[in-house]
Amino acid sequence: MFQHIAGSRSTALFPGILLILFCVTIMAGEDPRGVIRSLSFDPFDYFATGCQRCHGPGGSFYGENFGKDHTREELHEIVREMAAGPAQSPLSGDSLRGLVAYHYSLITDTPYIQVTGVSSDTLRGVVTPGAEVQLLISDTLLYAQTESHYWSAGVDSGLSRPARVEIRAVAGGDTTMLFARKSAFSHHSFIE
Ligand code: HEC
Repeated sequence: MFQHIAGSRSTALFPGILLILFCVTIMAGEDPRGVIRSLSFDPFDYFATGCQRCHGPGGSFYGENFGKDHTREELHEIVREMAAGPAQSPLSGDSLRGLVAYHYSLITDTPYIQVTGVSSDTLRGVVTPGAEVQLLISDTLLYAQTESHYWSAGVDSGLSRPARVEIRAVAGGDTTMLFARKSAFSHHSFIE
């Protein structure tokens, strides 16, 4: 009798343990801090490959009044159609949203910033070239290294599950704030 109960318990426990191991592996692989969002899609690379030949480096051919004539829904739709049509590389979901958000950084002429990856000791991402990247993790201020449109920052492994992760891109008197627990990329308030 006792053996029977013990046996049925262990068969019930086994899938449970597997599930826990699975969850821990996912957290460790994608976000050891459990709180920082990231999106691996790189809008700078994508734009350079799919859009730049017609719209110029960094959208420099869009013109002064770019974005003023379109509602948010229209711009979202135009970018979606351009990606699927002339760029021949359809986008959807967060990648599309990231590219639209990047367009709002062009429209507002403020630096774009995004987290593309989180590992146990490094945060990395993309930013408008020339911007300085600062990270405020709980109460610790760090400066990221930047190279072309990439940034990375070594993060003290003691900082687990910080209450606040604020990433700032500073360029020419403009500061873009990214609350990295809420979104992987900046300018998302324009597309919600
Ligand atoms: C082969 C050339 C070509 C490529 C490649 C291309 N576009 Fe366009 N795009 C155009 C043309 C031409 C227009 C203006 C005519 C129109 O609105 O259809 C335009 C218009 C736009 C507009 C509206 C601009 C405004 O001032 O209102 C946006 C935004 C845009 N494209 C985004 C993109 C994005 C993002 C990509 C890459 C995914 C891209 N385009 C790729 C040719 C291109």
